Amino acid sequence: MVMTDAAIPALTDVVSQSAPAELVADGLLTVLEAIAAGAKRVDGLTRRAALAGMLGDTGETNVQGEIVQVLDAAGTDAFVSALRDCGAVAALACEELEEAVFVSDAADHPYLVMFDPVDGSSNIDVAVTIGSIFAIYRRTDDAPVTDAALLRPGREQCAAAYVVYGSSTVMVVATEGRVDGFTLDPASGEFLHSHDQIQIPAKCAAYSVNEGNQGNWHPEMQAAVSALRADYGLRYVGSLVADFHRDLLKGGIFLYPGDVKSPGGKLRLGYEANPLCYVAEQAGGAGSTGTERILDVQPQQLHQRTPLIVGNADVVERVTTILSESAS
Ligand code: AHG
Ligand code: MN
Ligand code: MN
Repeated sequence: MVMTDAAIPALTDVVSQSAPAELVADGLLTVLEAIAAGAKRVDGLTRRAALAGMLGDTGETNVQGEIVQVLDAAGTDAFVSALRDCGAVAALACEELEEAVFVSDAADHPYLVMFDPVDGSSNIDVAVTIGSIFAIYRRTDDAPVTDAALLRPGREQCAAAYVVYGSSTVMVVATEGRVDGFTLDPASGEFLHSHDQIQIPAKCAAYSVNEGNQGNWHPEMQAAVSALRADYGLRYVGSLVADFHRDLLKGGIFLYPGDVKSPGGKLRLGYEANPLCYVAEQAGGAGSTGTERILDVQPQQLHQRTPLIVGNADVVERVTTILSESAS
């Protein structure tokens, strides 16, 4: 039976029932609504990017040493203002901002958010899927919030979310033991419940890595990817969030290894690896640095990078086993 849009529940209807009651009681939905509001603004700018002056770069370089795209800056503004003004967020950290933004130490601002406002920036100008990624933590006490409060292992997240701006715009929300997807309905402007209780399929359908970096991988990573190459097709969009979303829905494994050029990897622990590995684990998958569970890594600084292997738990395990056996 095809449900009419009116009959499909919206994000807040679903999450208010599915998320832990104590999180709903102290404002998790306010945070998710702020993320959804920011995502609608980014969606609108993305769909009209070439017409809205949203292509190309700003000429600025961010803390990552990367050129900031115009949409990166607009996305930062959209999410910083939505999260800062929502009344439930004490502090936030953003890929494009060197320092954290401290909003309020009031007890009724219990949440901390780390985010990547636009993921896959190299794809903006060529109209390929990009996204936004969010790690959500609860303050552990009412002490004034400092940087240290944001440097927590990913296993302490209380929720995570991402948005893919692709052939449709889908917001995925994970809380303990549950992952749901919500598709933006252009007619109503609502994110409607389109993917119920997502679990990663048992069968891995593809491996996803930038094969162009092969010459820089350590020998053990060469061995691991050779094993994947023998068993799976290759899919690589170049936007982490798009590659991850495909792997989550169809089964798959994504790898961005450390290599001789960048031993610590390219992707950021706080607002790329941690939130997506939280989603993966709630959906029955796994995420590793290659030697340890991503969610167990104790961050040392806000923008630190990490190698990332995430997707079907059995395939992540197969890769980490090859890595350890080949290294010894
Ligand atoms: P961001 O646009 O937020 O900097 O992230 C880009 C990342 C990630 O989205 C993607 O998986 C990776 O860069 C692609 O890197 P390569 O182009 O080196 O493969
Ligand atoms: Mn990114
Ligand atoms: Mn980004």
